[in-house]
Amino acid sequence: MTKVLSFLGIESSCDDTAAAVVRADAQGATVLASVVAGQVALHAPYGGVVPEIAARAHAEKLDSCVEEALTQAGLDLRDLDGIAVTAGPGLIGGVMSGVMCARGLAAGSGLPLVGVNHLAGHALTPRLTDALAFPYLMLLVSGGHCQFLIARGADDFRRLGGTIDDAPGEAFDKTAKLLGLPQPGGPVVEAEAKKGNAKAFAFPRPLLDRPGCDMSFSGLKTALLRARDAEVAAHGGLYRQTRADLCASFQQAVADVLAEKTRRALMTYLAEAPKTPALAVAGGVAANQTIRAKLENVCAEMGVRFTAPPLKLCTDNAAMIAYAGIERFRAGLATEADLVPRPRWPLDATAPTMLGSGKKGAKA
Ligand code: KG4
Ligand code: ZN
Repeated sequence: MTKVLSFLGIESSCDDTAAAVVRADAQGATVLASVVAGQVALHAPYGGVVPEIAARAHAEKLDSCVEEALTQAGLDLRDLDGIAVTAGPGLIGGVMSGVMCARGLAAGSGLPLVGVNHLAGHALTPRLTDALAFPYLMLLVSGGHCQFLIARGADDFRRLGGTIDDAPGEAFDKTAKLLGLPQPGGPVVEAEAKKGNAKAFAFPRPLLDRPGCDMSFSGLKTALLRARDAEVAAHGGLYRQTRADLCASFQQAVADVLAEKTRRALMTYLAEAPKTPALAVAGGVAANQTIRAKLENVCAEMGVRFTAPPLKLCTDNAAMIAYAGIERFRAGLATEADLVPRPRWPLDATAPTMLGSGKKGAKA
């Protein structure tokens, strides 16, 4: 019989301080509490996440987030079976704050401590929310991540490809900035795009001519900048309709690239003959209706189930860390080595290294 396990999860690898309690039994898993304290206002004046400010804010907020999560769950530390904490990849100061906090709680309570890879947290979320069976294809698409993974087990992920530069959310944010729109750029650019013509500007579809699932979004931003400057030079400013057209054309280019690369990733995944084929999409960009509709179409065409966890579990949170901790603990995978804070920690150690850093830290 599967033992009922309740875990506290702690997440602090980027700009969200989070704590959550998840209970799992034979029927599945339930999020008993999920507290997320964002830092958007703290970083807003700097146009990006400032690692030192993030680390200090995590250190200040972690205790109260943990307390609130336990209160909301109606549990005491003594009622838990373990603590899971993000040990990387991410901004190292924040990761260290979380690991220190978790170590302290584990030492005080005697509970087992499990170090979790942040990306594994995202990648295992569809099992928490939709009880997806392994193997399924995962597309992580947010402001910091963009990669295809075949999830085969709690510690078995095959990376099929990802962005070689910006993540799509980052491209949405930069587009908003270039067009004088507020941050975060995704939702505003999507709203503008609804009023625009997606065929008005012929933006590139980078890397579609190359085989494989790697993607690139930084060239799109340059193309948008050039188109904007040409409009400003020709008309002395940017008409409202032109701004909407730029947004619509940019969004269409991102959607086309993601859809085509998803089709390719699905072909590789389907070659593994999964019994119940499924694609799960996670990350803030998965909220975009145009992108989502395109991905749903690709899945329908290829006979694959489409799932997307609810947004609050798609974006950074600690419930995914608690759940991934439970999966690792159950599988006997929890080791002391997983508790060493790491700025980089690829899920698939056999995949080629991704170069560079995103605006929110190392990409993997
Ligand atoms: O997953 P997330 O909350 O945080 C991380 O990046 O880890 O994703 C945030 C990103 C931002 O770049 C934001 O602009 C983008 O997701 N985003 C969107 C939409 N909503 C949020 N991008 C496109 N369309 C949207 N509706
Ligand atoms: Zn994340």
